[in-house]
Formats: sequence, C-alpha cells, structure tokens
Amino acid sequence: MLTQIKDLAATLAPRLIEIRRHLHSHPELSGQEFQTAAYVAGVLSSCGLHVKEGVGKVGVVGELLGQEDDRLLAIRTDMDALPIHERTGLDFASRQPGIMHACGHDVHTTVGLGTAMVLSQLGQTLPGTIRFLFQPAEEIAQGASWMVKDGATENVSGILSVHVFPSIPAGVVGIRYGALTAAADDLEITIMGESGHGARPHEAIDAVWIAAQVITTLQQAISRTQNPLRPVVLTIGQINGGRAPNVIADHVRLLGTVRSLHPETSAALPAWIEQIVASVCQTHGARYTLNYRRGTPSVQNDRSLTQLLHAAADEAWGAQGVQIIQEPSLGAEDFSIYLEHVPGSMFRLGVGFRDRHNHPLHHPQFEVDEAAILTGVVTMAYAACRYWNEA
Ligand code: NI
Repeated sequence: MLTQIKDLAATLAPRLIEIRRHLHSHPELSGQEFQTAAYVAGVLSSCGLHVKEGVGKVGVVGELLGQEDDRLLAIRTDMDALPIHERTGLDFASRQPGIMHACGHDVHTTVGLGTAMVLSQLGQTLPGTIRFLFQPAEEIAQGASWMVKDGATENVSGILSVHVFPSIPAGVVGIRYGALTAAADDLEITIMGESGHGARPHEAIDAVWIAAQVITTLQQAISRTQNPLRPVVLTIGQINGGRAPNVIADHVRLLGTVRSLHPETSAALPAWIEQIVASVCQTHGARYTLNYRRGTPSVQNDRSLTQLLHAAADEAWGAQGVQIIQEPSLGAEDFSIYLEHVPGSMFRLGVGFRDRHNHPLHHPQFEVDEAAILTGVVTMAYAACRYWNEA
C-alpha cells in the first residue's frame, strides 16, 4: 500500500506543484475564497468525490466513499491568505496586490487535494469513508466554527490536519503529542478616571497613571501567581487615551491578546484578570469596563491519532524524516474548534530549504520548498488508509 501511494504521489507531483502555484498566485482573503473554493470543487469532482459547496459559507466538502463502517475520517485543510504584500519575486507570486499566501494555506489545500487524488486512484475501496474539509477563514479564527455549524463534523469519528513549518526542513514531518498551539483570547480594558488640570493632579483621577499600574500589575502577577509550568502570555499591544499634554486623562483603553496552553488555566484567566484590574482601579478611585473575548482554544492532539500519524510517517520516511516536536507553540489555530467535537491530530509539515535562510510564516518573503508537498500527501494518504485498522 505504501509503495503504491508513493508511486502515485510521485506521478502526480508535477500536477500538484502546478496546483499549488495556481493557488499561490491567486490568493483570497478570509471569507472570500470564492475562486479557490470553485477550483477545489472542480478538482474533487474530477476525482469522483461527492462534492458539496457552500459549507461553512465558502467552504467545500468532498467525500470519498469507502466500505460501510461506523467510523468516518475527516481530513481538514484551510484555504485563506493574508493581507500581506508579497515580496518573494517568484514567477508565480501573488497577482493580488496586498494579498499573499504567507501562511502556507496554498500548500495545505494542495496536500488535501493531492491526498484525495491519490486515494481515489488507489484502485481499491477504503475500509471507510473519508470526508475532505476545505475550510475558509482560518486566519480570522472563524472558518472552523462555520464548518461545524453546517454539519462538517457530523458522523466524523476522527480528524487529521496539517500545517507547514519553515523551521523544519522539507522532507521531514513534525509530530507533536499533546498541546500543539495555545488558546488565544482578546482583551479590552477601559479605565475611567476624572479629568483635570495637569498641574492639579490631586483634584483629578489620572487614568493614564492607573492604566500604567494595571499593565505592570498584570505582568508582575503572571510571574508571581500563575503556575510557571503552565505558561500565560499577556500582551497589551495597543493603548489609547488622553487629549493634551497638560490635561489629565479621564479615559484610557487597553487592547491585548492572552495566550495559554493548559485548559484549566485558560478557563480561570478572565476572572483572574478582572480581579487584578478591579483591585487596582478601586485603590485609586477609578472605574473600569473589561471585555474578555474567547478566541480559539488550544489544539490538543489526540494520543491515538497522533500515534497513527507518527507510525505512518515513520514507515514512510524513516527516523530521519520524523521529528518529535518537544514544545508547543503559543500561536493560535482554529483546528481546535473541530477538536471540541471529535478527536484529532495536526502534524507539522517541514517546508524549509536546507541551504538557505527561511523566513517565518506571515513574512512577505515567506517561501516553501515544494518538495514538501509530496511528503505531506504521502503522509496524509498513508495515515488515512491505516485509520480503520489502527486508531
Ligand atoms: Ni496558518
């Protein structure tokens, strides 16, 4: 089976590179993946899959029917690009000024399509059905929710996914047991004091000074009251307030992001932050409002599905082609939304060039070594074939 998958993928490789370059030069922003979705649906239909468009607004679902089995495997890839102006200088660089596939979702879509192509050409019926999910709007952490709402996870018993990773070389697959990415939430705090003359602070309540204390106290409290083995990152990235140099500000707005890995810690953070903000404001007679918006939860890879990916990658590429990832990332990924409904696992696909500097994800010069596409397709297709026997 593995040899057959590798041969098929190798034969398809030039076509897959063509697909990836087409997607790369025609990037679309989150929620507007109309052409990408139509293109994906076309390829899936030509492989004989049962295709449904408009799932999760702009998403596409394709089913490759297998034998009757209670268990249905889903394979999820995302399709959206970023509002970044590409500066790679490649022949197939973005033709949309200000929009770029800088997070490799063009590669993910290609891996999803390649897997469907390979498995539909195997010449044998799989032990169960595979549902391919082509998701929009990952970058704004909305698309997975849209897909789930439209029934994408109905009857699904396991889900696999992939994300490119430039610091792992192409040809290598990264496997992570446990937490892969962080929970990412948004924080908005408004501090309301009382305005006054800059020379008469005792007659006013200085919202700028109190905001400074809120920020400092939050950062210090993380190091003194949060379990250091359960990391929390709180970044206030934007602060607005005040009207003039000699007028005491009555109003300061702080905007930030909060990242955490441990589900219990994530659950406790809103109340913990509010308690600190309340106590600082109360001490100085200010009022506040706090808006804590839950974003994406942490991606927690399921053990047995991670073992499935690990075993498939091991057999396909040997020990040199597999890297066990030791640390999670504090980035966010809305694959976690599916994991609230079904167990799943996401692997990292190395796309780095071995002989030159690799720009990070979301960089205007981000590039991938396209040899990785074959690695991704074979790993995904082979893991999928083994699912009904092993996971
Ligand atoms: Ni991404």
